[in-house]
Amino acid sequence: MKPHMKYGTIKKLVSTSVVITILGGLYLVALAKHETRAAFREQPVTLTVGCNQKFQKYNLQVGDSYTSPYVTQQTGQTIRLAGYSEQDIRAIQRGCNIIDDTLGQDAKLDIERWNSKRYIRGKQTSCDHCHQGIGDKQNEKGERLVGSLSMAASWSNGGDTYDRFTGLLLPFELRQMQCFINSSNGYKPNIADDIIRDITAYSRFLSGALGLKYHTRYAEQGIDEVSVSMTEKRGDDYVRGAALFKQKCAKCHGKDGRGTVVNGRVIFPAVAGPDSFNKQSRNYFRFVSTILPGFICRNMPLGQEGSLKSQECRDIAFYISNLPRPAGDREGPVTAAWQQMMMFAMPKLIAFFNPETTSAQINNLDNSQNSSPK
Ligand code: HEC
Ligand code: HEC
Repeated sequence: MKPHMKYGTIKKLVSTSVVITILGGLYLVALAKHETRAAFREQPVTLTVGCNQKFQKYNLQVGDSYTSPYVTQQTGQTIRLAGYSEQDIRAIQRGCNIIDDTLGQDAKLDIERWNSKRYIRGKQTSCDHCHQGIGDKQNEKGERLVGSLSMAASWSNGGDTYDRFTGLLLPFELRQMQCFINSSNGYKPNIADDIIRDITAYSRFLSGALGLKYHTRYAEQGIDEVSVSMTEKRGDDYVRGAALFKQKCAKCHGKDGRGTVVNGRVIFPAVAGPDSFNKQSRNYFRFVSTILPGFICRNMPLGQEGSLKSQECRDIAFYISNLPRPAGDREGPVTAAWQQMMMFAMPKLIAFFNPETTSAQINNLDNSQNSSPK
């Protein structure tokens, strides 16, 4: 063998073994991560306050069969369903925690929420901000509320959710992924991820606890949409919307809609700006004009729900859609850069032209920027 060929063979051997070492190392890391997750699935779950109340109310327990106190109370009938194992219960509990506290502000470790925070770009989103009542909003009489984006009813209809916006039949898991991308302005978890599975387990449990039937459409699924034909047909109006927002919404959501964050905790979520839903969310008025007004009319202002007229909800939604927010995932770099610039410049412009509102606003912004979630 000639010396230069020998050299070539050695080079090949070295580079092959480097590649094998790197791939092998990655594989070992993946195995270790897998182990951590598998071990974590066995850990007892620390519930958020809201989830704890919910499971007490519905009497979630290990057993061969499950009987919901809610169903008995509402209908007088006792219905027995298949029971839950310890493993089922932990999945259901984790699912509830994720909906209630998606960013893990109440969690000691990010893994308690399966790191759901890393799928969300902003610092304020929680599924529960829109899927009200941790996916199961009721009034004092225990009646389920129309327009509350019920996760329970959504699961019940999950077998054939015809999505009229895409024209596709989308299973419950894909609908969750859509919401991670646009309404939560983030990235989608893998369809088999623990996050998605636990949210599904929780929604399925809720559906049973409420006595809902599979493959059935219930009024509390989705939004009670408000179209132009349901209003006074005065045209959606920026000036009226701005005035109403200032009067009815700004004290909680902030003058420029950027939310209220105190000591790193989201008190009132952003409805605009970098921490809000993006331009491809169905909450964005110019994308789907009926959903945000529907949400507002049924669920806001908090504590005075149902007090606004259809026209007012559309005016406010129209105004909100004029405040800058992140671009959607399919809008390309030019729109994204433009939106970033607007989000940066707008608060400063508002402050410049309206000095009287500045201090509260800047405080608000400073809070949300300086404070890191605990
Ligand atoms: C900013 C508001 C908002 C946030 C935050 C949000 N969603 Fe949604 N979600 C919506 C709206 C609005 C719809 C209904 C869209 C429609 O009618 O097509 C929806 C639909 C869904 C659906 C399908 C519902 C159905 O009945 O078919 C699922 C499942 C879902 N969201 C899960 C989630 C999860 C999980 C999160 C948290 C990661 C989340 N959403 C965060 C607003 C939101
Ligand atoms: C008393 C405080 C309060 C007032 C007033 C209020 N909100 Fe909210 N809003 C909240 C809270 C808290 C949430 C989070 C969800 C929940 O707890 O119901 C929320 C959620 C929202 C959401 C969905 C969350 C998101 O990320 O987009 C929108 C949209 C919204 N409010 C719009 C409005 C509008 C429009 C008004 C005025 C008509 C208004 N709110 C008035 C407290 C308030």
